[in-house]
Amino acid sequence: MSRGKSISPSLMCCDFLALEKYISVFEKENIEYLHIDVMDGEFVPNFTLGTDFVKQIKKCTQIPLDLHLMINNPETKLDFFDFGKNDIVSIHAEATRHLHLALQKIKNRGAKAFVAINPGTPIYVLEEVVDDIDGVLVMTVNPGFAGQKLVPSTLKKIAKVRKYLDENGKIDAVIEVDGNVSIENAKLMKEVGADIFVGGTSSIFKDNISEGICNLRHAIM
Ligand code: DX5
Ligand code: ZN
Repeated sequence: MSRGKSISPSLMCCDFLALEKYISVFEKENIEYLHIDVMDGEFVPNFTLGTDFVKQIKKCTQIPLDLHLMINNPETKLDFFDFGKNDIVSIHAEATRHLHLALQKIKNRGAKAFVAINPGTPIYVLEEVVDDIDGVLVMTVNPGFAGQKLVPSTLKKIAKVRKYLDENGKIDAVIEVDGNVSIENAKLMKEVGADIFVGGTSSIFKDNISEGICNLRHAIM
């Protein structure tokens, strides 16, 4: 995968009644991915977007999807979701006893397989699957809700993950960051090795989304 700096707006932060307008702005601004948070009320204490939403978005744009599955036992539910080549699918290491199997299922459909890790999860969970991944999603807040504050220790963790990937010959594997990616935090995250930045209420979804994208783009260049 390319390690070019990319933006992935978090669609859960959109006004759903204006979704089409948002998508056309994202297309105009050459947004690289669309981040879709799927929550099951079990793995995280919230429910968000689901299978029909993913299907609709896939139908109305060519922008690759960035599915963030915050669901237990994702290996049994991947077939519910519409994704394919060029899309990213992140599953949480904490949510499955079959991490390797789940990653294979994603790869077999041609998508990019990412492992997501919560702030409290040590990076050694990557050890036995490092050869099978295209990237790591480092959660910089505890997953479940938009609008939270950065967990400061995750900045060091991003650097640690980068080092670990490089030492294991995975120089092309990318690091995605999700949670309180404000303009200021994005700069710090970039310094320590982040490649894909999830834009939520802290950056893109403020008054003017084009301006938010522009500011975030500038911060990560
Ligand atoms: C959860 C979400 C949130 C959120 C990011 O996985 O992706 O982290 O929308 O936006 P902020 O933290 O800026 O509200
Ligand atoms: Zn997310």
